[in-house]
Amino acid sequence: MRQNKTILVTGGAGYIGSHTCVELIQNGYQIVVLDNYLNSTKLALKRVEEITQTSLKIYPQDIRNKMALRQIFAQHNIDAIIHFAGLKAVGESVAKPLTYYDNNVGGSIILLKEAQKAGCKNLIFSSSATVYGTPEKLPITENCPTGNTTNPYGTSKFMIEEILQDTYQADQAWKIALLRYFNPVGAHASGKIGENPNGIPNNLMPFIAQVASGKLNHLEVFGNDYDTLDGTGIRDYIHVMDLAKGHVLALDYLLTKSKGEVLTVNLGTGKGYSVLQMVKAFAKASGKKIPYTIEDRRPGDIASCFADVNKAHKILNWHAELDIETMCSDAWRFIEKNSVKTS
Ligand code: NAD
Ligand code: WQD
Repeated sequence: MRQNKTILVTGGAGYIGSHTCVELIQNGYQIVVLDNYLNSTKLALKRVEEITQTSLKIYPQDIRNKMALRQIFAQHNIDAIIHFAGLKAVGESVAKPLTYYDNNVGGSIILLKEAQKAGCKNLIFSSSATVYGTPEKLPITENCPTGNTTNPYGTSKFMIEEILQDTYQADQAWKIALLRYFNPVGAHASGKIGENPNGIPNNLMPFIAQVASGKLNHLEVFGNDYDTLDGTGIRDYIHVMDLAKGHVLALDYLLTKSKGEVLTVNLGTGKGYSVLQMVKAFAKASGKKIPYTIEDRRPGDIASCFADVNKAHKILNWHAELDIETMCSDAWRFIEKNSVKTS
């Protein structure tokens, strides 16, 4: 079934996109990648080619370029789209809301219109646990309320989810998966691709990794007075390769369904780890000291966030397999092996 299916991967040069490209190819899907390298480089896709021993069809284009999209749909018989392309920095989205809405929401609308024109109505969307805002209960189930978002990035994800729901309501031939990722971390076991953000990292794991490598001198822990086991924030960290596998299974599910639907699924491990537990695990995996200071809480942060993962297991037969030790050791291998930017 997978062999003759072609998937358009937008944002395929990025962190999650590049790992998913590997998993798609290794599971027999054919892929076409589109990325404007706004937050990535060509090197990540070269590394995907090395890992998979294949040659990729790559379009260095913007999802907002409708003529480029039209050409891609004309040249390839695209069976489904995995839509990763977007901007993702929370703080930057507060400073540049119009840039975020234009790229994420505007870009998604252009992509959807062109897909619809081409008759391609199968799509996986990279959503986020951020759509739940401050969770009303833990673990978070898919039917918890959404939309009470705290920044333009989160709101853009919520808006795209709503747009996709409306698109399906208007034409029930659409088969859509909204995959709500929790906190993706780690890297491919080869150490060839991984997360390497521009500038000072916003997220915990790449920050810790740069402290371990000596690039940054210490971690600032944002608050130790939360109602958690050690007072620091708890999150559901998920290995990026587990996440990539979730996309393959979601694709299998959509492409074998006879009827349209919007499937909403959490992708997490179901387990939460605190900031200090992550620091300890990374120090152990890397053999390095991770000095830290305790600082004030970061505005907008919540104490704890972790997923109820039963739906993913029941519907996609997926569950995360890689533990926190593997997340840290794979992330560290990537850092050790690379002093250049690959995603
Ligand atoms: P990333 O920045 O590494 O990847 C996104 C890719 O999209 C980049 O390669 C970038 O160059 C590309 N891109 C951005 N705008 C584009 C445009 N207009 N046209 C073409 N390409 C464009 O981010 P990531 O961590 O791999 O995230 C992938 C997706 O998953 C994003 O939509 C993000 O919002 C979502 N997500 C990420 C996380 C996370 O913590 N990493 C969590 C939840 C959801
Ligand atoms: C994790 C924990 C921080 C950095 C963000 C987005 C979310 C999603 C995933 C895309 C928190 C603490 C962090 C630091 C720290 N992305 N921390 N010092 O905030 O759960 O989620 O990424 O959709 O939308 O908001 O992840 O990695 O920033 O923080 O103490 O230097 O680490 O306070 O408890 P977060 P994070």
